[in-house]
Amino acid sequence: MSKIKHITCIGAGYVGGPTMAVMALKNPDIRFHIVDINQARIDAWMSDELPIYEPGLDKVVKETRGKNLFFSTKVDEAIKEADMIFISVNTPTKKYGIGKGRAADLKYVELCARQIAEHAGGDKIVVEKSTLPVRTAQSIKKILKSTSNGYKFQVLSNPEFLAEGTAIEDLLHSDRVLIGGDQDEAGQAAIQKLVEVYNSWIPRERILTTNIWSSELSKLTANAFLAQRISSVNAISALCEATGADVEEVAYAIGTDSRIGPKFLKSSVGFGGSCFQKDILNLVYLCEFFGLHEVARYWETVVSMNDYQKTRFASKIISTLFNTVSGKKIAFLGWAFKKDTNDTRESAAIYVADQLMQDQANIHVYDPQVPTEQMYGDLNELETRSDEDNRAQLTAYDDAYEACKDAHAVAVLTEWDEFKADQLDWQKVYNSMKKPAFVFDGRLILDREALTKIGFEVYTIGKGK
Ligand code: NAD
Ligand code: UGA
Repeated sequence: MSKIKHITCIGAGYVGGPTMAVMALKNPDIRFHIVDINQARIDAWMSDELPIYEPGLDKVVKETRGKNLFFSTKVDEAIKEADMIFISVNTPTKKYGIGKGRAADLKYVELCARQIAEHAGGDKIVVEKSTLPVRTAQSIKKILKSTSNGYKFQVLSNPEFLAEGTAIEDLLHSDRVLIGGDQDEAGQAAIQKLVEVYNSWIPRERILTTNIWSSELSKLTANAFLAQRISSVNAISALCEATGADVEEVAYAIGTDSRIGPKFLKSSVGFGGSCFQKDILNLVYLCEFFGLHEVARYWETVVSMNDYQKTRFASKIISTLFNTVSGKKIAFLGWAFKKDTNDTRESAAIYVADQLMQDQANIHVYDPQVPTEQMYGDLNELETRSDEDNRAQLTAYDDAYEACKDAHAVAVLTEWDEFKADQLDWQKVYNSMKKPAFVFDGRLILDREALTKIGFEVYTIGKGK
């Protein structure tokens, strides 16, 4: 069986870029070519300023770029030269037509399949790296077969489990790698080829192989379970505030039960990111499609609980500030959906800002990695108000102290380390603010006692007075 020599990845995003960079690092004998239709993104991948901020990524890209890792917009050429092609394009929630607001929009994936079929020029293994609804492989196969010109295609599912902010660590030390494929001889041979690529650094026992539908469904299920834990602990956070219990103590107490485990029990202003909501909605859509309405409703509540948590946080700010934020300056520390990333997709900060802006607040933001224009883009996408109004009501700063100056309240929306009590001079922040000075900790990172001593009135998610 011949070994893989050329791998192409279509989509140079948060998944395609880091995943291929690490694969290239661990497989110096394979040539990796990442292609994208977005010229600016490709240019950035080839420059010193990578398009995504991810700890450790710079180093891996520097070690591999130009040796066995290449970037370009030449999609057709890259398809032709490859033995194995990863599809790693975006699969956002559909914004139109049937399944609007729930189903995954697979137009980019379909386009890739058509391009592969047209430009293949030989047999190929096509790998679904994007997160896809169950049975997508069937559609990809159909497209490939109908335009195949006699070439043979194998379709594998190899979902990605990395989390942003820890992508390189997650890729280097994956809990598991999942590969699904056809159960016949050709399918198993294709699986084996991808196993070999991963086995350069992932122990064989951590590479799981399944049938293709199990692999596709496992990805959606993993995200649904992770998000469910956050919504569960966030639901309890509201009860903690009402009763005087402390959500961190409760999380610790339940997390020490080895059946529950300690991870993903951190209460917050709400989960964000490009995938949790989109993937659960996709799961809900699939359940409905198969007539499983009760199952659909069950998973849907994970998303509604998350919406409630964001609204609850914004409402808390308004009610604490004497029921009005009109004309008031509210400083936001953080805009990204979590620390150590410049990604803002579905970030809780966007929705909290939007709600406060509806009550005519002025939002002053500092985030160490998010460009100002991206913040306006995020707000504009909600279509609540015009771009002009968003620009009038939101101002971004390069410095946390400047953002907090003269503010009526400071809200922590992202858990960047630099906002913690031992890194930010909270006394300085306090001195520069309007009094009474309020702090709203939506990320459980501040030392409530120390801030209270300074003179702040502190609200911490999940902690009653
Ligand atoms: P992304 O938006 O950052 O990147 C996707 C890229 O694909 C974009 O640069 C876009 O220009 C490119 N693209 C779209 N259509 C193309 C085409 N026809 N030809 C060439 N390029 C094309 O998305 P992402 O965050 O990398 O996510 C990709 C997939 O991986 C999604 O299905 C997502 O659900 C899944 N996923 C994401 C994460 C994550 O942490 N972001 C983790 C696991 C899985
Ligand atoms: C998540 C999953 O963790 C990855 O395994 C998966 O591959 C990825 O989605 C995907 O499919 O896109 P990601 O969204 O990058 O990764 O980041 P997470 O660390 O999961 O955080 C998601 C959101 O949940 C963030 O807003 C984070 O602040 C929040 N969160 C996380 C909490 O509020 N509490 C927690 O205990 C953990």
